[in-house]
Amino acid sequence: MSNHLKLTRPDDKMDISLHVAIIMDGNGRWAQQRGKPRFWGHREGAETAKRIIEAAPKYGIATLTLYAFSADNWKRPQQEVSMLMQLLQNKLRSEVKTSIENGVKLSFIGRRDRLSSALVEQMEDAEEKTKLGTNLHLRLAIDYSSREVLMRAAQMAADDQNLTREKFSQYLARAMHSDDAAPDVDLLIRTGGEQRLSDFLLWECAYAEFYFTPVMWPDFSEEELARAVDEFKSRERRFGAIPQAQVSAML
Ligand code: FPP
Repeated sequence: MSNHLKLTRPDDKMDISLHVAIIMDGNGRWAQQRGKPRFWGHREGAETAKRIIEAAPKYGIATLTLYAFSADNWKRPQQEVSMLMQLLQNKLRSEVKTSIENGVKLSFIGRRDRLSSALVEQMEDAEEKTKLGTNLHLRLAIDYSSREVLMRAAQMAADDQNLTREKFSQYLARAMHSDDAAPDVDLLIRTGGEQRLSDFLLWECAYAEFYFTPVMWPDFSEEELARAVDEFKSRERRFGAIPQAQVSAML
C-alpha cells in the first residue's frame, strides 16, 4: 500500500476543528534552485496557497492563518517587495468570487497603514464580501509582527483593572485589526527547513504543536498537509497537565 493511502482521509477527521497556521517559507530558494528569479517562487507559492486553502476544510481545519508578508519583509529589495504586493493584490482580486462560492471567510491581520490604498481597499472589499463564509476562516497575515501586536495590545490593556487572558485576546484582535478574538493555534507548520517562529503568532502559539518540513512551499501538497495533520493527531496534548492514565494510576 502506498504511504499516501495511510494518511488522514477527508472522512476520518471530522471530530476536529483545527486552527492551523503556516509559515510558507522557501519560495525564493525553490526558484533559485531552478535558475529562476525569486519572484517565480512567490508566484508558484501563491498557487500552492490556493490548493491548500481549498483542501483545508477536508482535514478538519476551521481556521487557517497564512504568513504572507511579515513586518520584517519590508527589508527585502524594493523590487521583490513591490512584486509581492502586486501578487497579493492580483490574487485577492481574482479569488474573492471563489472564496464566496466556497464559503471561505477572508480576513487580514497586521498593519494597514503602510500598505497601498489600492491594496487596503481590495482587502476591505474581500472582508466585506466574504464575511458570511462558514466553511473556513482564512486569515492572511500581511505587514504582520507578533511582537508589535503584543506591544499595542499591552498599551490598550494598561488601564484595565480586570484583565483576563480572554480579554487580552480581544485587545490582541483589536491591535491586529481583526474582528475576532485571536484563536489559539493548534498546529503550526513551517516549510523550507528552518525551525523558528519568525515573530508569528507568539501569544496564539503558546500550546501549538509544531511541524517543520524541509519541503519548499511551492512543493507543499495536499498530501503533505494530510501528513502534518496526521502527525498532529498522533501527539498527546497535555496543556501542562499530566496524562489521564497517570492520574488514574495515582488514585
Ligand atoms: C517566504 O519565502 C515567503 C514569503 C515572504 C511570501 C509568501 C507569499 C506567498 C506564498 C504568495 C502570496 C500568498 C497568498 C496567500 C496570496 P522566502 O522568499 O523567504 O523563501 P526563501 O527562504 O527561500 O528565500
